[in-house]
Parts: sequence; structure tokens; C-alpha cells
Amino acid sequence: MSRRKLVAGNWKMNGLVASLAEFDRISAGAAAVSGADALICPPATLIAALAGRGLALGGQDCHAKPSGAHTGDLSAEMLRDAGASAVVLGHSERRADHGETDAQVRAKAEAAKRAGLLAIVCVGETLEQREAGQAVAVVGSQLAGSLPEGATAAEVVVAYEPVWAIGTGRAATPEDVREIHAALRAALVGRFGAEGENFRILYGGSVKPANAAELFAVPNVDGALVGGASLTAAEFLPILQAAA
Ligand code: 13P
Repeated sequence: MSRRKLVAGNWKMNGLVASLAEFDRISAGAAAVSGADALICPPATLIAALAGRGLALGGQDCHAKPSGAHTGDLSAEMLRDAGASAVVLGHSERRADHGETDAQVRAKAEAAKRAGLLAIVCVGETLEQREAGQAVAVVGSQLAGSLPEGATAAEVVVAYEPVWAIGTGRAATPEDVREIHAALRAALVGRFGAEGENFRILYGGSVKPANAAELFAVPNVDGALVGGASLTAAEFLPILQAAA
């Protein structure tokens, strides 16, 4: 089974027009890497400005509806219109800050499909859940609730992001990642049959140039969702090269 790796950068609430030069450095470096896919998800305010500068772009959230009276929200169609080809959905920061539920994430994933965006659907347990031995059950339940019926690998990427590893400098160990990614793979195959083998499963949480290669060597790790280290070419490009 050969799944092409994807390294997606999630800029979160970082990035101003002044960030364009750094984006161009990332884009130029990524163009020289042919063995893996690269994607940057900047704040939505920058998508239109960054479109056409050589690198695939994604949003960080979308509303489930295509348009309407939803002040402050953006639809999948709007992200696509601005130049995005993907969208991160159900990130733990959205689940925590905005109370997003699996059902809402699933509706957003359906919206992404409707608009022609690749949905990067995030799952991940908290430290309390891990310490209680619930990590596999929690991510399995999030996966089951967040993926649309009949989802395909061309439409959906799964990202395992343990909450306790995000922004902490404490990445999950390869052993932890192996266990969870194997469980996610089994769940995908159980639900989608042979197509389940084709879904890319990214790991996210304190991925850095120093740990990328060992994480990418873990079975069923098909790339990374990178936060802090995606903000500079100096950190993002070595991670992308490790995936190639
Ligand atoms: P960090 O790489 O900063 O830990 O963030 C991971 C993340 O949340 C990506 O979506």
C-alpha cells in the first residue's frame, strides 16, 4: 500500500500580509520536493493573497451551509472561491474553543465535499482521557461521528492530534502513534472496506525537523499536520523533505 505523504501546515491565528515573503520561501522550497504533497492553511484573510503563488492552500474551518445569515462564518464555497483546495475540520482548538461536536464536524466535512475541498478531519484525546486508558476509544468515537457516510480517500484525510501534544513540544512517542494510527486504520477499513486502506492518516502535535523522520517511519503515518513549525521555511521544509 503506497499512500503519498501529505505535510500540511496549520498557521492557526498567525499571519499578516507581512508574512507573504515567508510563504514564498516555503512555496519555493516545497516546489523542489517532488516526493510528498505540501499544503499551507493560513488564516482565511490571507488565502486570496496567497493563491496562485505556487503552493496548495487550505482553510482552518468552514460553516456547513453554502451561504446565509451566519455573521462571522465562512462557507466551504467561499474558501474554494478564495483559492483553497482543502480545509481543516474539527481541530481540537475548535472543539474546545467553540464546542464543536462530531455531528457538526461531519456536516462541515459534507460541506467540504460539496464545495470540492479536501477535508482534513482531526481527532485526538486529552491527557486525562489518555491517562484513563481511553485514547483508542475516544479517537475511534470521534472518527465514527465525524466522517460522512461513503467518504473516500480522495475527499477526506484524517489527522490524529493528541491534545496534550499540541504546542507543548512533547510529541507523542512513535509507540503511541503506532497504536492509534493502527486503530484508526482498522476503523477505516471496517467502515469503508478496501477504500479504508487508501485514506491518509496524518500525525499532528509538536512535529519538528528533529522528530519528523521517526514519526514518518511509523506504519500508517501518512504525513503530518504541523502547527508552530509550519510558520517558517527553515522548520517546515525539513519536515516536508523528511516525508518525501
Ligand atoms: P504544533 O505543531 O504547534 O504542536 O500544532 C499542532 C497542530 O495543532 C496542528 O494542527
